[in-house]
Amino acid sequence: MLSRRHFLGALAAPVAAVATAPLCAPGSAAAALAARPRGPLAAPDPAANLATDEDFWFDVAQAFTVDRSLVNLNNGGVSPAPAVVQEAMGRHLAFSNQAPAYTMWRVLEPQREAVRERLARVFGCDPEELAVTRNASEGLQTCQFGFDLARGDEVLTTNQDYPRMINTFKQRERREGIVLRQFSIPVPAEDDDEIVALFEQHITPRTKLILVSHMINLTGQILPVAKVVAMARTHGIPVIVDGAHALAHFDFKLSDLDCDYYATSLHKWLFAPHGTGLLYIHKSLVPNVWPLMAAPEKRRHDIRKFEEIGTHPVAQILASAEALTFHQALGGKRKEQRLIHLRNYWCERLLKHDRVHLNTSLKPGFACGIANARVDGLDTGKLNAWLWNERRILTVGIKHDEVDGLRVSPSAYTTHEELDRFCDAVEHAMKHGLPE
Ligand SMILES: Cc1ncc(COP(=O)(O)O)c(C=O)c1O
Repeated sequence: MLSRRHFLGALAAPVAAVATAPLCAPGSAAAALAARPRGPLAAPDPAANLATDEDFWFDVAQAFTVDRSLVNLNNGGVSPAPAVVQEAMGRHLAFSNQAPAYTMWRVLEPQREAVRERLARVFGCDPEELAVTRNASEGLQTCQFGFDLARGDEVLTTNQDYPRMINTFKQRERREGIVLRQFSIPVPAEDDDEIVALFEQHITPRTKLILVSHMINLTGQILPVAKVVAMARTHGIPVIVDGAHALAHFDFKLSDLDCDYYATSLHKWLFAPHGTGLLYIHKSLVPNVWPLMAAPEKRRHDIRKFEEIGTHPVAQILASAEALTFHQALGGKRKEQRLIHLRNYWCERLLKHDRVHLNTSLKPGFACGIANARVDGLDTGKLNAWLWNERRILTVGIKHDEVDGLRVSPSAYTTHEELDRFCDAVEHAMKHGLPE
């Protein structure tokens, strides 16, 4: 068993030390895990799989300051940050306010470079390819608005992409006369080649840009972005990848995707402060993209041109470093396995009922911690409202043209008991119905 002291000790130690220091009893699962190589190519060691070790995850949960009088199963929307992250943010904010023109601009702002360097190292790119943004929307819109398009040029995406990103292209339609083409993908989608073929079928001679979600927010569906990018490259079409839900949720590196444009939030699955994100653009392509806010010509090749946003707080950017250290200590693969375990825990229980249908695949590689379920005979919106009003359980009721169901997203701090309460409540509603 890994004690709280051991886990918090691991969080406080540098990463290299985490892998070698005697943080736990020899022979324990934690010791085996500490000895295991890290990274996407490291074969998972079954002996070291802590996904079901409740003692370990209880210790992890203690790092958060969440309100246990309710059950938060909407961690996909935005995540709570661990206490160490909140504290770092508070310290940087307090220091900023001592004499901001000096402490914030001259002392703290330059430290952003170290955060850039660490994010790039952990997620697999060159620091000169990584801009720190305020959220995924900012990074995505930088790319969506950043290409010159002529009247009649087409941009392509699915019907299940994020509404703000779809609206971004719709605004360009109204303003500049470009054409947004969208198409449907199966729910759930379990055939990568079919997804790639669907994108390819909708390419026309006028297609100039593709937007693809790494993980669809409605269902948690993971799409084969590396294959979509490779296919689009044969047509010479740039692909913007919406990774808002993917980075630090399941374990991968940007270099695994071989993509050119990728944007994500850090306040979802990295557990960084609210108002943080990153934008990756392949170094050779930085000069091709206009920034959202104007930057001087001499910065054309500089990834920092995307950070020219005027006066802004720096506390959350610097406290993201704390979230990164927390993530490293937890281990990307370990977190992924735990999130899959929690998803399976509630899905397998509810799937015992014929009336429950999943909009998310449980097959490996097609989803991670987020799943979406519909209950025959229960209106999704009413069930979602009842869960909150009567049971203080937070889920997302999704009624979309292609998806109807509750989106459930537990997190690293979620307990089995909380998932039991959710399942009990859904079973109660199935048995007794919902009030009109
Ligand atoms: C798929 C997807 N893209 C983009 C966003 C926007 O993220 P942010 O709020 O960080 O800008 C979200 C937010 O939920 C999302 O789910």
